[in-house]
Amino acid sequence: MPKHLISLSDLSKSEILDILSLAERLKDERRRGVFRDYLKNRSLAMIFELPSTRTRVSFEVAMADMGGHALHLGWNDLQLGRGETVADTARVLSRYVSAIMARVRSHETVVELAKNSDVPVINGLSNLEHPCQILADLLTINEKKGLDVKLAWVGDGNNVCNSMILASAILGFKMSVATPKGFEPDERILKMAEEIGRAPEILSNPFDAVNEADVIYTDVWASMGQEAEREERLKAFREFQVNSRLVENAKDDVIVMHCLPAHRGEEITDDVMDGKHSVVFDQAENRLHAQKAVLLRLIG
Ligand code: CP
Ligand code: NVA
Repeated sequence: MPKHLISLSDLSKSEILDILSLAERLKDERRRGVFRDYLKNRSLAMIFELPSTRTRVSFEVAMADMGGHALHLGWNDLQLGRGETVADTARVLSRYVSAIMARVRSHETVVELAKNSDVPVINGLSNLEHPCQILADLLTINEKKGLDVKLAWVGDGNNVCNSMILASAILGFKMSVATPKGFEPDERILKMAEEIGRAPEILSNPFDAVNEADVIYTDVWASMGQEAEREERLKAFREFQVNSRLVENAKDDVIVMHCLPAHRGEEITDDVMDGKHSVVFDQAENRLHAQKAVLLRLIG
């Protein structure tokens, strides 16, 4: 395992597969009511510069389930909010805790944390990537379909999309991305995917993207930090809604994914989100199991 989990590309194919199989085992143990103190006397600092429901709760419960402890640290509750540097914060926290998870506005911040931390740093979402989300999603896709799939990303080429592109490159599954012009995935990520061996097909028509798809994935049209662009984005993305007409154009047994939180009626309709193809709440649950596996591999 690498020391830190900042980008999905920090993991090799075999490390990802190992995390998935460990996550399955931990999921099964929890179902059977088996809780073991794998992380007794370990603490996780969780720094949040942005809000969170799933990431916060799943990491906190993961630590508690395994006999460890998690600290929720809002950016402005820390001296970071008053200008203490990210580097000094990393050096200090390293003296107390076994790992640091951080959700940050700028990807540079989580890189800077890792550079200055003696303990593992986990990216809990940045503007560039969301690797923990994708590990949970891979667990979900593997449970429902196996990993030899075609995944269609519809909507914004954002942080979650970027990490999924890296997963597709590393694991070798097919991926199509349909975005409006100007909202394509990050160039650096596309280049990295190409170097790893598989870049996604980039399209501008969502119907072309979902053709023969096993998985349709969407996310909000305006991510955290993009609130000022919201009106402009709502207009640009109008034709990229995941609704029943779009879903009918994929394979009959397609699964529909969303990392949540969703803006119902914007990027996804109620009938699709609550319909028979949707696996969104299984995905949300799998955040817990996948992150337990990550924690065990990094600090177990
Ligand atoms: N999907 C996800 O990361 O959700 P939260 O923003 O609620 O953590
Ligand atoms: N792309 C979204 C994901 C939220 C989990 C955002 O960055 O706000």
